[in-house]
Amino acid sequence: MKWLSVVGARPNFIKIAPFCRAIEAHNAALSPRDRARRIEHVLVHTGQHYDDRMSHAFFTALDIPRADLNLNIGSGSHGEQVGRTMIEFEPVLARINPDLVIVVGDVNATLACSVTARKQGIPVAHIEAGLRSHDMGMPEEINRIVTDSVSDILLTPDHLADENLRHEGHTDDQIRFVGNIMIDTLERERARATGLNTQRMVAENLMADQTDKSHDLRDDAFAVITLHRPSNVDDQTKLKHIVELLHFWSQQHLPLVWPIHPRTLKNISRAGWLRRLLDEPRILLTRPLDYHGMLNLNAHCRLILTDSGGLQEECCVLGTPCVTLRDNTERPITLTDNGGTNRLTDIDGLPKALHTALNAPREPFTPELWDGRTAPRIVDELMQAAD
Ligand code: UD1
Repeated sequence: MKWLSVVGARPNFIKIAPFCRAIEAHNAALSPRDRARRIEHVLVHTGQHYDDRMSHAFFTALDIPRADLNLNIGSGSHGEQVGRTMIEFEPVLARINPDLVIVVGDVNATLACSVTARKQGIPVAHIEAGLRSHDMGMPEEINRIVTDSVSDILLTPDHLADENLRHEGHTDDQIRFVGNIMIDTLERERARATGLNTQRMVAENLMADQTDKSHDLRDDAFAVITLHRPSNVDDQTKLKHIVELLHFWSQQHLPLVWPIHPRTLKNISRAGWLRRLLDEPRILLTRPLDYHGMLNLNAHCRLILTDSGGLQEECCVLGTPCVTLRDNTERPITLTDNGGTNRLTDIDGLPKALHTALNAPREPFTPELWDGRTAPRIVDELMQAAD
């Protein structure tokens, strides 16, 4: 049987790594007379993320097999990215003719490839189905809703996601609660990541012109920021407000390590604030970090300020106080109300939310089935569905 999996952007790589390994383990455990149960796995990279640090570094660090095909879509508007992916993916599907297409997460590749496969009559399975922010201003929310609506098998990370899907009319035979596949990667890589020397890792990744900044990045002695959502970084007034607030906060409280996403860097540079940030004595700007570098920061910092989805989950499992600069989250299981470490805030509430997080203990919380064994469960579920 032939399965085709799709990845496009950085968070997808973290989710596909354990899935690839689980397929290999499944094949390795087959006896010669079980040949019919052997999975031929084809991995397609749409090329939405293409920089070494946003893509290749993750394949290497997480032992992801080289993609069989790269569609080289690159950057562009949403319409361009989705449209180009569909155009390139359609003949690939016709040529490879898989029995099943597997998509992960909520990026443009997820939407484009699930719709294209479904239109060709090929069954689709969605890993990380059922997450909802209920905010249609977020491109990922549109991607999630459309992907789930065309998927045959909905593999969910928690029961809140199951409820969302039932509410939208999906039936129980489509919904499979399997747990959170990101945590498979976290558990596998945790020891290696936490063992890195934080000080040295940050120094090696500093953006140019900051070599004179030296900070003692001991446990709990620094905070981390990541921001990349259009809603936070595309509006100049808001971005300026955030930068000023962070300047003030770092002076008053802790040094900040800020691995900067290409979108954010572009907007900060365009606005002419990059020099000022590089000169901030207590803000350490780094290039995008690899998986282990980011996990190391998460495990050792005092708190994280973010707008990422995956980080909210990783903070929850590691117990890191997390402030999410958004009005909503598609991952409510990570919120403090549900036992997690995550607090939502808008820009006006940010100083207060940071203050609360600064005084919060590191309290790890592991939701049901976030146990590091989600990928083998997914392979079992998909095999059962094929029987
Ligand atoms: C995408 C996902 C988002 C995910 C994020 C993780 C969608 C709709 N969004 O957003 O859900 O959280 O990835 O990073 O799919 N760029 C580079 N090098 C690259 C890739 C991008 O420099 O390798 C720059 C380009 O200038 C591009 C900008 O970053 O215009 C944004 O990239 P894009 O793929 O459009 O979306 P992300 O913001 O990364």
